[in-house]
Amino acid sequence: MRDQGETVGDQLGGPAQAAPEGSGAASRRRRPRRSRRATQGLSDAKPAASSQLTLEAPGLSSADGHLERPAIGTAAASSSAPGSEVSVTTRSPAASSAQSPNSPLLGDARPTLRHYGFAVLSVAVAWGLTLAAPALHQLPTSLFFAAVMVTAFYGHLGPGLLATALSSLILEYFFMSPFKNPATGFEETVRVTVFALTAVLINSLHERRRLAEAQRRRLQDQLRQAQKLEAIGRLAGGVAHDFNNFLTIIQGRAQLVLRSLEPRDKSRSDIELIDITAGHARDMVDQLLAFGRNQVLQPKILDLDVVVADMKKILSPLIGEAIMLVIVQGTALGRIKADPTQLKQVFMNLAANARDAMPQGGRLTIETANVEVDSAYARQHAEASVGPHVRLTVRDTGAGMDAGTMTRVFDPFFTTKDVGKGTGLGLATVYGIIKQHGGHIALESAVGRGTTFAIYLPRVDEREGA
Ligand SMILES: Nc1ncnc2c1ncn2[C@@H]1O[C@H](COP(=O)(O)OP(=O)(O)O)[C@@H](O)[C@H]1O
Ligand SMILES: [Mg+2]
Repeated sequence: MRDQGETVGDQLGGPAQAAPEGSGAASRRRRPRRSRRATQGLSDAKPAASSQLTLEAPGLSSADGHLERPAIGTAAASSSAPGSEVSVTTRSPAASSAQSPNSPLLGDARPTLRHYGFAVLSVAVAWGLTLAAPALHQLPTSLFFAAVMVTAFYGHLGPGLLATALSSLILEYFFMSPFKNPATGFEETVRVTVFALTAVLINSLHERRRLAEAQRRRLQDQLRQAQKLEAIGRLAGGVAHDFNNFLTIIQGRAQLVLRSLEPRDKSRSDIELIDITAGHARDMVDQLLAFGRNQVLQPKILDLDVVVADMKKILSPLIGEAIMLVIVQGTALGRIKADPTQLKQVFMNLAANARDAMPQGGRLTIETANVEVDSAYARQHAEASVGPHVRLTVRDTGAGMDAGTMTRVFDPFFTTKDVGKGTGLGLATVYGIIKQHGGHIALESAVGRGTTFAIYLPRVDEREGA
């Protein structure tokens, strides 16, 4: 759902350029206490399939194989930069061709191996019980039926059917045929099978309805969130625009007066203070302008990998030595149309947050890839637009966020950091910049495991420098 009205060139003006967060004056803050609940947030809640309720941050562990990252693993150059360890991996061309965005940041409603395993396990437990306790020998039917029901309600048609088939086979061959009149036993098995199948089918229908409902609710939440940010953005951007003009005058005049004063004039320090304070205020106003999508963009056709390579030098000292910077570049990456200065702000803000989330050190991975946003993905992400995109993934192994924090991270002035450490404008700026570029952000996080920001920017066909 690209916001066509707010694309490049549609600004109110203001020579602004977002300053790195933290440079603005400390201001009003809301400081919620952190809770340790690990759940999904704003833009990327998973479908509420029972299997997906354990909310994890795919891609945060190296073993899950979710993000197509080094999967592909043709490790190439490994370069180091001052300050921290940097490794650069380049994908093979085949691997970096367009990928579906669904895998890393979307749960999906299909049954997994875990569900099939659960089906086998529940039937095995029922079988074990009947073998272990002779009294239960009389009740194999009800035990297996229970196993099938549990599997069915655990979710998914496939595993339910598997449990039904297994139970029926075991019933027939181990309980009915040896002990009873084969005809009667067979009838019994058929009856159990029909019961179980009915339960599985009803549950599957119910599950589908539940998923659809959960998806609808999630989309509504996302839309509400986007509308809220849109509204605050307009307000903040409008106010910031006017303030920018006032501050330009205040700072300009202060500088003029300073020039006309004698070096030893005793008013000098007062005027200097006015100048410096107006400068701080402008830093903050610039960030609000970015959040309100009121920046004047100077878009260029860019190769995001070139931007990433440039950023490496800046980010390494920013994150410090304790954090390893891993860069996974996509080869044959599509071009984007973006303002490099604004993109720099995005990198700086995300990296600064990652650094703050990993005080004991960790890994910051920056990855680029071509992705094709399809309608299935767009259905799950209210702000996504269908089509070819370049995805920038910034992933840390830090403290992560709980659900409450995740829903508010893009709000201006929302910070969980101490006074002087956070302004709460970093992600608001990132959000505004990405929206102004026609992109969207998906967020995934788990307390104690880390955070992934996936930024989707529309791919353009034009040649570099066009
Ligand atoms: N990578 C991250 N890991 C954990 N929490 C994060 C991360 N990025 C942002 N946050 C949370 O989002 C809040 C808002 O971030 P931001 O807008 O950059 O403001 P600030 O960094 O000034 O607090 C942070 O205070 C923090 O709670
Ligand atoms: Mg920040």
